[in-house]
Amino acid sequence: MTEILADKTSQFVHLSDWDDATLLDVLGHARKMKEEHFRKPVASGKMLGLIFLNPSLRTRISFETAAVHLGAGTSIIQPGQGTWTFETQTGVIMDGDRTEHLKEAVQVISRYVDVIGVRAFAGMKSLDEDMEDQLLRDIVSYATVPVINMESAREHPCQALADGLTMLERLDGKPKDKKFVLSWAPHPKPLPMAVPNSALEMAARLGMEVTLACPPEMTLPDTVLDKIRAHASRNGSQLHVEQDQQAAFRDADIIYGKSWAAPIVYTDPAAEEKLRTDTCRNWTITADLMSATRKAAFMHCLPVRRNVVVSDAVLDSADAIHIDQAENRLHVQKAVLMKLMRLMS
Ligand code: CP
Repeated sequence: MTEILADKTSQFVHLSDWDDATLLDVLGHARKMKEEHFRKPVASGKMLGLIFLNPSLRTRISFETAAVHLGAGTSIIQPGQGTWTFETQTGVIMDGDRTEHLKEAVQVISRYVDVIGVRAFAGMKSLDEDMEDQLLRDIVSYATVPVINMESAREHPCQALADGLTMLERLDGKPKDKKFVLSWAPHPKPLPMAVPNSALEMAARLGMEVTLACPPEMTLPDTVLDKIRAHASRNGSQLHVEQDQQAAFRDADIIYGKSWAAPIVYTDPAAEEKLRTDTCRNWTITADLMSATRKAAFMHCLPVRRNVVVSDAVLDSADAIHIDQAENRLHVQKAVLMKLMRLMS
């Protein structure tokens, strides 16, 4: 068996794996490494296995680059693209076209690498299963090395860390009491809730006043809202749910645009599509909406649909910081890798 360089308790699967102090510590480390243009082979000889069950641009390249900057190697595993196709369900008769079960694959990968990254999006078939993050939990249970969530059904914690670093930069390190607005936006495809869930949690854990702006049909599940309320309350702030987009934008410091599917996607996909693409089509984020803010920064995790989610004018404005946000994936992930490999002082 390969030497295990960090125990599984140091995994980064959900934001809740790390307390506020740890998150701030990792963010501080990332900021320092960004300032220092940190490139040292501190992880020389170590290996990352990055399993992508779904496509990616930023996550893949930023992890590969982070590994190079730390002197580590990477192996990209994309089932069906140079790797055997994976069965993900448990207890199935594997007489179809899927060649290998994740149970064997992840155990084997664990024998070769020091850390495993996993991207496993929501199945969008069962809300309970997606909110439980069942597929990711299965993968974590098969792994014998630390796992990093590279976006699962329920959360995108690496994106949230990059969001946190970007907001700290924009707000001169003083996010407390600043107004953070997550605004729903239209989209041609039903997207999962991982990014909105994690972005809200990060803002609440930074002590920001958090507003969720969305049409009534698009509100997030109670389990998500209750968790955000608890984090906000613990940090002396509140979660506000606002169905009037103009009112929500008033005096905001940060506008985070994002589309997600209405929860009825699980029971009535046709009705959900009509809501998302027709009834609520006027929720596109525009310069007019932004003019009501306190010269807010515009954020988006990317990829973004121009002139559907947000207008060209907003995305091309000086206050759009989505490219910095994407860059910060690199810096926070370097810090995450160093923490999991116990290379952070
Ligand atoms: N934001 C994000 O995770 O981008 P990718 O899907 O391109 O990795």
